[in-house]
Amino acid sequence: MSKLYDPYQNVIDVMEQAMEVGHINTAMFEILKNPQRETKVYLPVEMDDGTVKVFEGYRVQHSNIRGPFKGGIRYHQDCTLNEVKALATWMSLKCAVANIPYGGAKGGIRVDPKTLSKRELCRLTRRYTFAIAPIIGADTDIPAPDVNTNSQTMAWVLDTYSQLNGKPCPGVVTGKPIELGGSRGRNSATGRGVVISTKLLLAQEGKELAGTTVAIQGMGNVGSNAARIFYHRGATVVAVSDVSGGLYCADGLDIDAISDYLATPDALLADYNADGVSHISNEEVLTCTCDVLVPAALENQITEEIAHRLSCTYIVEAANGPTTEDADRVLASRGITLVPDIFANSGGVIVSYFEWVQNIQELTWERDQVNEMLEKLMSRSFDDLLSVVDECHCTLRMAAYIVALRKLVYAEEIKGIFP
Ligand SMILES: NC(=O)c1ccc[n+]([C@@H]2O[C@H](COP(=O)([O-])OP(=O)(O)OC[C@H]3O[C@@H](n4cnc5c(N)ncnc54)[C@H](O)[C@@H]3O)[C@@H](O)[C@H]2O)c1
Repeated sequence: MSKLYDPYQNVIDVMEQAMEVGHINTAMFEILKNPQRETKVYLPVEMDDGTVKVFEGYRVQHSNIRGPFKGGIRYHQDCTLNEVKALATWMSLKCAVANIPYGGAKGGIRVDPKTLSKRELCRLTRRYTFAIAPIIGADTDIPAPDVNTNSQTMAWVLDTYSQLNGKPCPGVVTGKPIELGGSRGRNSATGRGVVISTKLLLAQEGKELAGTTVAIQGMGNVGSNAARIFYHRGATVVAVSDVSGGLYCADGLDIDAISDYLATPDALLADYNADGVSHISNEEVLTCTCDVLVPAALENQITEEIAHRLSCTYIVEAANGPTTEDADRVLASRGITLVPDIFANSGGVIVSYFEWVQNIQELTWERDQVNEMLEKLMSRSFDDLLSVVDECHCTLRMAAYIVALRKLVYAEEIKGIFP
């Protein structure tokens, strides 16, 4: 029977296994089992009708041993401190795998943003930024978008923080609009990284993207950009979904038409209609026959029970933590190869790093330069994972954790413990 899912316990359990499999033996690991700081804030907001609501927000700073804290801000009605702790820990691991000089953090507000007007969302974002302003900054902690937040949200964070500091502070957030110092290629970077991960995996098996069938759960920033890039590189996207349900076409969906449709505010896939396209449930998207399954929505989607029913050959984790620990064991026994989140969705934080470097140096790079460097960094870290797979005879997830933990505990060891 599946255990009750606890994302933080999940990440700690996998870290413990990686310490063993990777023969990493140091007391410094104890430090990484806890975040450096957890901040909880209560955010009063005046609603459009004059009433006052108080929202709960979080910022968890897991580790800054390798560089400033870095991680997105999530708005979701089910967001909890425990979930944000897991997400912050994954960020430390992800930045270490990508070999970029950042630590890990994450933020969140427990709110269903669809129930708020744009003005209310703006006031909530500004109040949250004010509450966490003492602990963020271009050289301390740099937020970015995550679920239900976007470049507009980052523009509000940036402006509030800059007003408080009396000067423009573009380096305080990444994923901001290009007009405010954002980077070309950032918006699509996580989805692009998912496609790069898939290409690198397929190449290992002598296969190509063209003709590969793909199913994608979640058509938000990450899923829709991945879908578009897969489609334009000749893959056949057979199924996609959002919170309202899924679409399926065995011959391949017209992703350009679906993307145009989703560009309309509040559009849901449940209301999309086209010849040859059938409506299926979210679960059917996960279990449909395809070469590559891309979960790009939330945690805890591929459970042990779902893992037994999957009909894919590969999983590329675009979302953070979509697969439970129990499901991982089923996938391994069924021979389904999984590319783990802390590598597969690292394109976002890698291009966030490029954005931050451009801000600090007051430079702007061309899109091609950004995309080429992204591919180069991801290819290098994939090679690192493959060497550890060979060395430790383990899965790619275990290899990614081992690569990350070796860097993190080594940094802890040479620094030592203060005082
Ligand atoms: N935005 C980034 O740069 C970034 C970077 C790294 C990782 N991630 C991770 O990728 C995932 C998606 O993030 P995003 O930024 O695309 O969020 P988003 O808010 O833009 O999109 C989320 C999508 O998931 C869908 N969804 C929500 N619940 C669902 C369900 N139960 N079944 C099917 N679909 C569902 C939503 O309808 C939406 O299409 C998250 O796990 C996030 O942490 C995002």
